[in-house]
Amino acid sequence: MENNKQKFYITTPLYYPSDKLHIGHAYTTVAADAVARYKRLMGYDVYFLTGSDEHGQKIERKAKDKGLTPKQYVDYIVGTFQDLWKMLNISNDGFVRTTDDYHVKCVQKIFKRLYEQGDIYKASYKGHYCTPCESFWLERQLKDGCCPDCGTPTELVEEESYFFRLSKYAPRLIEHIKTHPDFIQPASRANEMLNNFLLPGLEDLCVSRTTCKWGIPVEFDDRHVVYVWLDALSNYISKLGYLSDDDSLFKKYWPASVQLVGKEIVRFHTIIWPIMLMALDLPLPEKVFGHGWLVLDGGKMSKSKGNVVDPVKLIERYGVDAIRYFLLREVPFGSDGVFSNEALITRINSDLVNDLGNLLSRTVSMIEKYFGGTIPAHDAPADEDNALIELAESLPARIDEHMNALRIPEALQEIWKLVGACNKYIDVTAPWILAKSDESKPRLGTVLYNLAESLRIIGALLQPYLPATSPEIFRQLGIAEGELTDVAKLDTFGRLPVGGSVHKGANLFNRIDMKKELEELDAPSAKPQTDAAPAPAKQQSEKPDEAPQYIEYEDFAKLDLRLAKVLACEPVKKSDHLLKLTLEVGSSTRTVLSGIRDWYSPDDLVGKTVVLVANLKPRKMCGIVSEGMVLCASDEGDVHLSALTTMAEMASGLKVR
Ligand code: ME8
Ligand code: MG
Repeated sequence: MENNKQKFYITTPLYYPSDKLHIGHAYTTVAADAVARYKRLMGYDVYFLTGSDEHGQKIERKAKDKGLTPKQYVDYIVGTFQDLWKMLNISNDGFVRTTDDYHVKCVQKIFKRLYEQGDIYKASYKGHYCTPCESFWLERQLKDGCCPDCGTPTELVEEESYFFRLSKYAPRLIEHIKTHPDFIQPASRANEMLNNFLLPGLEDLCVSRTTCKWGIPVEFDDRHVVYVWLDALSNYISKLGYLSDDDSLFKKYWPASVQLVGKEIVRFHTIIWPIMLMALDLPLPEKVFGHGWLVLDGGKMSKSKGNVVDPVKLIERYGVDAIRYFLLREVPFGSDGVFSNEALITRINSDLVNDLGNLLSRTVSMIEKYFGGTIPAHDAPADEDNALIELAESLPARIDEHMNALRIPEALQEIWKLVGACNKYIDVTAPWILAKSDESKPRLGTVLYNLAESLRIIGALLQPYLPATSPEIFRQLGIAEGELTDVAKLDTFGRLPVGGSVHKGANLFNRIDMKKELEELDAPSAKPQTDAAPAPAKQQSEKPDEAPQYIEYEDFAKLDLRLAKVLACEPVKKSDHLLKLTLEVGSSTRTVLSGIRDWYSPDDLVGKTVVLVANLKPRKMCGIVSEGMVLCASDEGDVHLSALTTMAEMASGLKVR
């Protein structure tokens, strides 16, 4: 029988272990999990893969910062990923690490094969490299000399490299995208790929590096390591045993049914990846779906906001299903969405506590009170029952349509239509009035039966999304998992056996006092989570994300912010991070140290205008007195960092206010 089941292979991107995961990362994985669980319940033979992307310069540098070897560093961080996925009830079948042996071998074989068939060749390369994005750009693609994706200044690099002939396969890929409208979803992303990258002409891709050591060595030329994207993308087949002695999983599951990726990496998954597959003579995935980002009210997720976006903290505080529900319900899949504690608490209080939790507790309480806890017999449905029954019976088909199109929030909305209809049904039928006379007792039985049966259907349909809550609904309704909770058998209303016993339990979800909760979260004791690697972590100077704490204008006026021009710049010898800048501030010059060497080389900065905190108390570092501080913007874990400058050319020494 097993062999007759339809296969369904779903993947998430591999996460970089360069940072702690925040709630935005959990978003893709929870979505993929809901789809995987749904498909399993529908009888598919599912393989769900996630993992970690562990090579590259960024990780090499991070590890060095912490005084660890790259492997020690990634082992620790990847352990925290796996703990998080467990806490979130992620049901992945495989976890791939790009440092795993089978993966390394597979990548080496792929590289060699592409080289031998002439799709990879060696040449000298000159290009603009963005370290945070680990990608190369052409001169014409840069925005003011910076990476068009993240805005970080790029480095001009020249080295001997291997190249992948993307150009050779471009016409075939364009044809494929045009004839397979489902391949790239949402459709707007397909147009973006065609218009911005494919139609203007693809350049061959540099696929090896000699400057970074932390990577998979090219088997036949070990001065080179494989460029991260070629390495990382291969995971989707390496884990299945492609090119290994046992490739049974690969034969069974490839091509993937759905590959979920964030919008910023759609390009890699719909250009480089399919071309790799074409070159290997393999079929392309059926669908690559690019989802949006979860952003904070006031900007992107960041480590300083750790206490509000740390998924572990959130799960401990609100429970795993509350977090899963929020992620799956709040944001139209494909668009960007906003995360805030208020939005989360609102969803918990209204959808989970008021709508779902109350429905269950009222239904079970009334069955206990009026029928001694036994599911009552029921009469033929009355008019007011029919609408509810029809809604329940038509629900599975509507959910199936949404889930197949990855409209996860819409699927949940459908379930909540039934939850809402049940709550309304209680108001309209008013069981407490029916309970007043013996004559209406049979009607009361029918009403409560219909509610319990609707809750059985709701519980069964909720399994993919709220895997910890459904079993509790079943327990309170006194039904065992099996036939009665099988999603594939929900199209007839009335299968719940009469005579079963209900068991009142604790509330499914607890109401949160919004005001108190927000005050507590804002309290200084809610310390931000810091990236606690096992080595001495660097001093955190960020403050927790507090409620606006206004300052007076006089406070702001204490800051002497000035424009300064970088006259000269050199690395500080005794430090790995510091650059020594000689700044012109009006008619005077001064020396300022800045820990931005990972992002800028001296040449990037000379001649640039920066913003200086000019009246910061001077401080001695590595034997040099630093007279002020250069302002920079940065994100989570300082992956992207950019020094501030002015929109127009302005003289140094001018005040910033
Ligand atoms: O890109 N909201 O890894 P990554 C939603 N290793 N999604 C978010 C998010 C947010 N705030 N922040 C991150 C990589 N993500 C590569 C992938 S695949 C062969 C290699 C998503 O750790 C992001 O969009 O930077 C991406 O899909 C995933 O997290 C991993 O990001
Ligand atoms: Mg990223």
